[in-house]
Amino acid sequence: MSKPKVLIAFYSRNSSTEILANAIAQGAIEEGAEVRLRRTREFVGDEIMSQVPGWRENAQAMNQKYEAPSEADAEWADAIVFGTPTRFGSISSELKAYIDGLGGLWFQGKLNGKVGSVFGSTSSLHGGNESTLLSIYTPMAHLGLIIVPLGYADPAMFKAGTPYGATHVSARDSLRPDDDHLAVARFQGRRVTSVTRGLLHAKIPSAAA
Ligand SMILES: Cc1cc2nc3c(=O)[nH]c(=O)nc-3n(C[C@H](O)[C@H](O)[C@H](O)COP(=O)(O)O)c2cc1C
Repeated sequence: MSKPKVLIAFYSRNSSTEILANAIAQGAIEEGAEVRLRRTREFVGDEIMSQVPGWRENAQAMNQKYEAPSEADAEWADAIVFGTPTRFGSISSELKAYIDGLGGLWFQGKLNGKVGSVFGSTSSLHGGNESTLLSIYTPMAHLGLIIVPLGYADPAMFKAGTPYGATHVSARDSLRPDDDHLAVARFQGRRVTSVTRGLLHAKIPSAAA
């Protein structure tokens, strides 16, 4: 049996979501996955990106590190984990543009039965982490993904994160994810990988056949 293939497709401008993405990758690799880490590209114009010091530079640095996610990455993957900073309580346009670009694979039924999971970051405690993650459950259902939440299935869940996926509160980008939040993210990587492996063994029709 080959390794479960996990695509982590995220957007991040100030690195909180990027750091969670790397911890999820670490957990997935620990559990035996082959991982592709991808950062979606800018959707707003340069006049917006230059309004906040550091945004353009951060984006350039991350774009050197990570390829943009492609349609081929989604087809390759047995599991897709989406990550986004909250934008007005919901998904970022940068990640949504990638999801919307998966319409061709959706039309061919090629995403049916793959695993899907989500994670994200807000600035404030009640700024919309849960609503953002849940808003991505909707397109995941349309795509035919088998959604894997975290529940309280690991001791890490009693200290940080949400049952819907790993999260972080950056307090206006002044805080990085701490050990408790990283433990949740690593658990997400392990859980997505083990569920994916189980589905591959179960040979569910078009589960990453
Ligand atoms: C246009 C815009 C809208 C945002 N909306 C929210 C919001 O609704 N709630 C919130 O807590 N933070 C909001 N934020 C802040 C980011 O979600 C937050 O800084 C996040 O930690 C950034 O993640 P990153 O470091 O991965 O870029 C917004 C930021 C921008 C630029």
